[in-house]
Amino acid sequence: MEHRLEIETMGKIKVFGPQRANGEITISGSKNSALPILAATLLTDEKIILHNIPNLADVNTMIEILENAGKKITWDESSLIIERYSNMNSVLPYGPVRRMRASFNVLGPLTIRNGYAKVALPGGCSIGVRPVNFHLEGLKKLGIESQIEHGFTHSKFIGAPEKVHISLPFPSVGATEHLITTAVLLDGTETILTNCAQEPEIVDLCNFLISMGAKIEGHGTSNIKICGVKELYGTEYTIIPDRIEAGTYAILGAIMGEKVTLNNVIEEHIFSLLDIFEKIGINYTMKNNILTIEGISKLELSPVDIETATFPGFPTDLQPQLMVLLSLIPGRSSITENVFKTRFNHVDELNRMGAKIFVEGNTAIITGVTKLSGAPLEATDLRASAALLIASLIADGETIINNVDHIFRGYEKLFEKLEKLGLEIEYYE
Ligand code: UD1
Repeated sequence: MEHRLEIETMGKIKVFGPQRANGEITISGSKNSALPILAATLLTDEKIILHNIPNLADVNTMIEILENAGKKITWDESSLIIERYSNMNSVLPYGPVRRMRASFNVLGPLTIRNGYAKVALPGGCSIGVRPVNFHLEGLKKLGIESQIEHGFTHSKFIGAPEKVHISLPFPSVGATEHLITTAVLLDGTETILTNCAQEPEIVDLCNFLISMGAKIEGHGTSNIKICGVKELYGTEYTIIPDRIEAGTYAILGAIMGEKVTLNNVIEEHIFSLLDIFEKIGINYTMKNNILTIEGISKLELSPVDIETATFPGFPTDLQPQLMVLLSLIPGRSSITENVFKTRFNHVDELNRMGAKIFVEGNTAIITGVTKLSGAPLEATDLRASAALLIASLIADGETIINNVDHIFRGYEKLFEKLEKLGLEIEYYE
């Protein structure tokens, strides 16, 4: 199918540094909005048109899953047209679901619509242990009984009570999304979700569902009320810009920018990063959804102590990238990782480039160095790849990043955007 981007081989990136960034780019649509919204298209047979969808490996994995479930999906530039192709199939093949954790969110809608579903259990992940117990316990309260057999979740809908209250043990993004996407189609059931995640992608999902006819209140807060409806309808919807892509390029601009301008940035979505920029002393302006970052001498910057948290706190998905910036600021900084407590795969690689980072429990203590030096590196996951790419662009000499294709899961038009910023990298397989 045209427009597809699949990861079939693991490529390498070769970079000569240090380089300087100068230019203007536009931030793409949000991957983490697109994925749950695509899963939610299973709630209707009617036609749905989604705009501002990034063409990324993860999005194409979700498309493959939806096609297996009976949808016909067509790209039209950055829009997707989703239509019914055949009867809904709720027994999905192992591969695509196992490949990407966000695909587990199809389980609830498929089970509600077909009465039964069989979906692979997502596996381990290089950023830490990622169980789905909150999903399964919440679905049970919504009337979905599940059994795990041979690596698959077999789920059956046995009927939901009139009133359901689910309090999440931790404000999990995926579980909040999955339970909302399931509860909206439980006709006659009122669901109250407490201790929910409040991420902008959840608000985006809820706005999309409301445009399909769902009844949801409280999204964007920690308490959400859903009144299930009998049917949901076709719609046309535009997805929010990707705050993690924006944050990544903003950090790149802060480290190596003369002047980097990012279009299509929503200030409230990246407020926690801008707050850190202010504490550090990075020059930026934010106006009319345009973020401009101007370079500044490293000696004028101040170290900081930060913690990752659920929204509106500083996102774990920007932690590796921010660590590169902090490793170049004189003095002692620290990052405590509260969401994925062992998400420090990038630390050893940065230390191999000359950074001074020491991990103690779930905290990384960072002593600023004056420069990084190029080295052969291994990328282990999506955001670690982005961090190593930024580090390689500022480092002295040649860096080769192996297994770098993780990066295509989350950064659309990466080479084009880097080129627009005047940055040169070489990709090969
Ligand atoms: C989503 C994002 C991911 C981001 C993460 C945290 C998507 C597609 N992915 O992932 O990029 O890093 O939010 O902002 O949106 N947990 C459990 N049991 C569960 C579910 C989660 O213990 O059933 C734990 C996880 O192990 C983790 C924490 O809760 O420690 C947060 O995970 P969660 O918010 O669910 O992350 P994802 O939705 O998988």
